[in-house]
Amino acid sequence: MISVHNFPSPRICCIGAGYVGGPTMAMIAKQCPDIPVHVVDVNQHRIDQWNSSDLPIYEPGLQDVVEEARGRNLTFSTDVEGAIKSSNIIFISVNTPTKTFGIGAGRAANLEFIEKCARKIAECSTGHKVVVEKSTLPVRTAEAVKRILMSSANNATFDVLSNPEFLAEGTAIADLLNPDRVLIGGESEAAVEQLASVYGRWIPRERILTTNLWSSELSKLTANAFLAQRVSSINAISALCEATGADVDEVARAIGTDSRIGPKFLKASVGFGGSCFQKDILNLVYLCEHFGLNEVAKYWEQVVTMNDYQKKRFSARIVRTMFHTVSDKKIAIWGFAFKKDTNDTRESAAIYICRDLLEERARLTIYDPQVPESQIRAELTAVFQDTVGGLSEHHQRLIENNVLVSRDPYEAAKDSHAIAVLTEWDEFKRLDMTRVFHAMHRPAFLFDGRNILDAMHLASIGFEVHSIGRPSYRAGG
Ligand code: NAD
Ligand code: UGA
Repeated sequence: MISVHNFPSPRICCIGAGYVGGPTMAMIAKQCPDIPVHVVDVNQHRIDQWNSSDLPIYEPGLQDVVEEARGRNLTFSTDVEGAIKSSNIIFISVNTPTKTFGIGAGRAANLEFIEKCARKIAECSTGHKVVVEKSTLPVRTAEAVKRILMSSANNATFDVLSNPEFLAEGTAIADLLNPDRVLIGGESEAAVEQLASVYGRWIPRERILTTNLWSSELSKLTANAFLAQRVSSINAISALCEATGADVDEVARAIGTDSRIGPKFLKASVGFGGSCFQKDILNLVYLCEHFGLNEVAKYWEQVVTMNDYQKKRFSARIVRTMFHTVSDKKIAIWGFAFKKDTNDTRESAAIYICRDLLEERARLTIYDPQVPESQIRAELTAVFQDTVGGLSEHHQRLIENNVLVSRDPYEAAKDSHAIAVLTEWDEFKRLDMTRVFHAMHRPAFLFDGRNILDAMHLASIGFEVHSIGRPSYRAGG
């Protein structure tokens, strides 16, 4: 039970105006109209977008939340120092990507941005501040943050809390409004209660869990590892379904009704994406190796290995099914975001499927309702750079000549030999598939990487349909 204390009125600052900082702070500002919330970022363009009607993030419901609070008690700016000085609770919500260089490259989290924030806070703080780790961090990062803060130029004092975020993109507003739990880890009971009292304005107290710092940091990595593990587990079974004639959606339903297993997160797919699952598991693997727990590290690494296999399996199946060659064939890609209802493409399975098909010299026409062409081209450029360590002329030509981006799913599918559904956007379920079929070459292949379309119905139109972990269908049986 959290007791009532006399805290100074909260004045909040959040460093990092990304997918977490923006929506999370907008929700706090909406729910607590008397608390000033100042979100700051070094990226001027991003801040300009937060101050416009064209937000940097596509997230259902976000626009309304931002518009309600912005100009009242929600501010976006690049004035990092000013925001630190004028607040008494400082959230750090900057990116913590996988390190691409030096020790731990490809596994460890890059904590450069976290450290820069801690140094900036130490440099310009006075009095007492509560510093909240909102970013996902390796266990015991708070120790390093505390040591940096102790070097404060002005003898400021600090409490450090861990308050990881569990929102999922596409449902961020609902998740923030009604979270399963809020987790706060910290040593100072007063600081924990001060933060809990902010969330307590709209979240029932029994859902605000408090732990020690290290449990809180580790719980975030563990939650993502468990979620990703479920997806890899059902995807592993999808491969067996394809080999045996079982249907993975039926298997998922059958096991999901066991209350100990539960029905959520059992949707077989072309592979999980997003900025966090892979990054956080690799981080966990790195931590385990660091502590000499090699078997534990190998266990979790297998979740990522299975995900890579699932993506490769899908592109290989397209090539195999289309008579072992997709060279010079037009393939429509429906969906590029890593899941529906977001414009985020980080680690999207679509990037890797497109890369593999381009390596096979396919001609791709990509349609996604929310992802702009510049972002699609940037992702494809980056993935080829990663593959060979620099963009070869050959790959540059492939991206220029073999990739078109369309603003219309029908246009994307016109004159194509195949369609690959890579994101589960609802609008794909409402398309006139007879019209699509008549505009395609024969056989009209459809590869449903999300199992969202009615395969039997499509076969009755004339499509040859291949889904994940389900029998294939074509006209006449
Ligand atoms: P993001 O890349 O969208 O945003 C991070 C922002 O921080 C960027 O705009 C960047 O310019 C800014 N930044 C970096 N260094 C800065 C500095 N020194 N000063 C000021 N601004 C700085 O990242 P994100 O998706 O919001 O993720 C942030 C953290 O939250 C990560 O640790 C991630 O693992 C975690 N997380 C993300 C999600 C999600 O759905 N994206 C969910 C839960 C947790
Ligand atoms: C995930 C977690 O769900 C959040 O709790 C967490 O806060 C967040 O990561 C984070 O730390 O960044 P997110 O990546 O936004 O959220 O989206 P999810 O709904 O978890 O989906 C992740 C990926 O798994 C997507 O590519 C999705 O299509 C895939 N997925 C998910 C499946 O293939 N099958 C499923 O059954 C569920």
